[in-house]
Amino acid sequence: MTDMIPQDRVLIFDTTLRDGEQSPGATMTHDEKLEIAEMLDDMGVDIIEAGFPIASEGDFRAVSEIAKRSKNAVICGLARANLKDIDRSWEAVKHSKRPRIHTFIGTSPLHRQIPNLTMDEMAERIHDTVTHARNLCDNVQWSPMDATRTEWDYLKRVVEIAIKAGASTINIPDTVGYTAPEESADLIRRLIAEVPGADAIIFATHCHNDLGLATANSLAAVAGGARQIECTINGLGERAGNTALEEVVMALRTRHDIMPWSTEVDTTKIMAISRRVATVSGFPVQFNKAIVGKNAFAHESGIHQDGMLKNRENFEIMRPEDIGLAESSLPLGKHSGRAALRDKLKNLGFDLADNQLKDVFVRFKELADRKKEVFDDDIIALMRISEDAA
Ligand code: KIV
Ligand code: ZN
Repeated sequence: MTDMIPQDRVLIFDTTLRDGEQSPGATMTHDEKLEIAEMLDDMGVDIIEAGFPIASEGDFRAVSEIAKRSKNAVICGLARANLKDIDRSWEAVKHSKRPRIHTFIGTSPLHRQIPNLTMDEMAERIHDTVTHARNLCDNVQWSPMDATRTEWDYLKRVVEIAIKAGASTINIPDTVGYTAPEESADLIRRLIAEVPGADAIIFATHCHNDLGLATANSLAAVAGGARQIECTINGLGERAGNTALEEVVMALRTRHDIMPWSTEVDTTKIMAISRRVATVSGFPVQFNKAIVGKNAFAHESGIHQDGMLKNRENFEIMRPEDIGLAESSLPLGKHSGRAALRDKLKNLGFDLADNQLKDVFVRFKELADRKKEVFDDDIIALMRISEDAA
């Protein structure tokens, strides 16, 4: 394994602005991209894939500007396996203090048919393009797209070629979200064990979420020896999306006991960037999304609310403030119990005796049966009715 980073450190490579933006309809404006890049840089992401410079003039301008402005992160631009793409990527990222070129080609049997290359021709193309990128930039990442459906012997062969040609990061994409955790770990483990030169470079994992396994597969890859996770804010990305940054970062933090690897991400900045990405991409976050969903720290049922009021660790494994959320919420609904209603009333300035609470609770349940959520104004109205009736 590489000695370039401590063994217990995992690099976070954010591709919200590249793979995330490839979600149909998620296009962001130039200024929005600069704003998100600044937030990523501030929160301690190690590498920002800022775009695909050959894709459009707009992408080129955005990557160039992000490269000029970013303070800490490595700035990376994507390129297909041809010299023109690689030159364009370099022209954009070269303004960064820490530039990286990321070049890729589809290596699985299906993907090899697209450029219609034989295995040998593709191997030669990989050698030539990685060599070209390395002559421009001393930080080159190479990806065999659809690696998880590539024949093992061929994958080994092309990874070795890319390392010999100068790639310092080899990314293993699960392009169609096809792998499963054990396989994901094994693949990285075997590559590190069997490819000559693998111990001098960093292996990355890049998972898509077609089967809902992206986070599990990424963490398994780290257990297998990967030291860079590629991910996006809110899991934005093609089809069912990419690995969600907030999920892997919080999983590593929360279960450090069994996954002893750390990131440099300031987790208290997660909520702010999640909301901003949702707004600028036009992709709202589902209510029950892990970590950043509206309900991720909300508790409605009576038993849970009572448990939360006694000790929040009863029903929370993370603290809301650790992701930059002010507090958990106990929304009132038909499943809520007396303890939560009493707590709410107290917060609204009503300190009731037990017999008064009993009466309000009956009215509250009648209302909750008709409404999905009972808001503060509803409670105040209920109190007025109770006071008038008294
Ligand atoms: O999913 C994928 O294979 C990619 C590559 C371009 C790395 O996004
Ligand atoms: Zn991808």
